[in-house]
Amino acid sequence: GSAQIGVTGLGVMGRNLARNLARHGYPVAVHNRSADRTRSLIAEHGDEGEFVPSESMPDFVASLSRPRAVIIMVKAGGPTDAVIEELIPLLDTDDIIIDCGNAHFADTRRREETLRAHGLHFVGTGVSGGEEGALLGPSIMPGGSVEAYAKLGPIFESIAAQVDGAPCCTHVGPDGAGHFVKMVHNGIEYADMQLIAEAYDLLREGLDASPGELAEVFRTWNEGDLESFLIEITADVLGQTDARTGKPFVDIVLDQAEQKGTGRWTVQSALDLGVPITGIAEATFARSLSGHADQRAAARELFADAGSKASVPDRDAFVDDVRKALYASKVVAYAQGFDHIQAGSEEFGWGIDRGAMATIWRGGCIIRARFLDRIREAYDADPQLPSLLVAPYFAKIVSESIESWRRVVRYATEVGIPTPAFSSSLAYFDGLRRGRLPAALIQGLRDNFGAHTYQRVDAEGSFHVQWAGDRTESPA
Ligand code: 6PG
Repeated sequence: GSAQIGVTGLGVMGRNLARNLARHGYPVAVHNRSADRTRSLIAEHGDEGEFVPSESMPDFVASLSRPRAVIIMVKAGGPTDAVIEELIPLLDTDDIIIDCGNAHFADTRRREETLRAHGLHFVGTGVSGGEEGALLGPSIMPGGSVEAYAKLGPIFESIAAQVDGAPCCTHVGPDGAGHFVKMVHNGIEYADMQLIAEAYDLLREGLDASPGELAEVFRTWNEGDLESFLIEITADVLGQTDARTGKPFVDIVLDQAEQKGTGRWTVQSALDLGVPITGIAEATFARSLSGHADQRAAARELFADAGSKASVPDRDAFVDDVRKALYASKVVAYAQGFDHIQAGSEEFGWGIDRGAMATIWRGGCIIRARFLDRIREAYDADPQLPSLLVAPYFAKIVSESIESWRRVVRYATEVGIPTPAFSSSLAYFDGLRRGRLPAALIQGLRDNFGAHTYQRVDAEGSFHVQWAGDRTESPA
């Protein structure tokens, strides 16, 4: 065969990835379970580059040059396993299967191990940027072996988004590392969107402003430190008018946020690894709360008046407070996400370079933002940084935002606007910075009811008090 790489699964993402590859001069084999998608790709875009279409899997594999590289772009879970099963007998030693779907990293680890036993490479690859990114340049997060990356790297780096001459693609680490990092990316995406949504809610209430007016605020914010894809499209969505009713678009959308599950996976993994990613967790739970329509209706009936309506006296100062609170909370969410990456990397021995992750998120992906440059700089300056919050640039941002942050959370609490992400980020910050935490009392309670023992601030070892007896302390 002559094709340098193949794509099976020609939904929107697969189709656009294949077109991106062809446009960059790579002869690309294409295949889909039902051939009509393959035919329409060729009919509509066949002139964009060299496509080699096949209707059967054996023909598709035969059309590839060796070692073969096959991208799978089908639904995560069972469908991915089914395609892998179909491919195994058709492939030879050193061939590479690349899964570009949103797979769970544990599945990727399992598949990599199975395929390695067959002499095949399995490259679980995170791809971010939606349909448009896949076509015009996504952020690409490949895991898998160094050998596989030696072949795929140049191809992926050329089709990825480019920022300041650097590709938004790098080898993340072995087996599931790429999908793990993509999962955390999505978790941060959830937190980022929740924070933006809370800022919008606060502004709308506090300023009594229309979505159209707020679109302007976000447009302005997008010219400063907060510049990012999500802030940019927030202005776009808030500025939209519904054609049917003439109302602001955001007012005709049902207020129940859905999810496909990557945010939930992130929180589950963080619980396993013991990383407090509170912002991502609150964002995920806020989506689930929004979906509990019956509970919301019941509570609304009883407590509709439990909040108050209060527009703020100084509008400009309020907008600035919310902007600062948003930025500080966002720093917390990213600090937590990067901690999560570090914990995963240590647990699974991936050796992930966090600065490199910030670098490949600067373009192409959903969370692309100006401040990722600052994150990259922070990890370049100190690869062992204990928390992003203490890097000089971010420490300064946070210091300058504390008063605004507290004012905004105070206002939200008084008026009754739910700000789980703003509030939990502030609580996380206070939790880290406090001299003593009431965790000491919790240890005392655990020892009291369950003899779970405690450690002392002034001596080595574990201790227990005879709570029911003479209340003396003994070493445990
Ligand atoms: C991306 C996105 C994408 C994700 C959607 C939907 O990086 O391009 O993260 O992979 O599937 O954002 O996610 P939810 O349906 O879970 O919100």
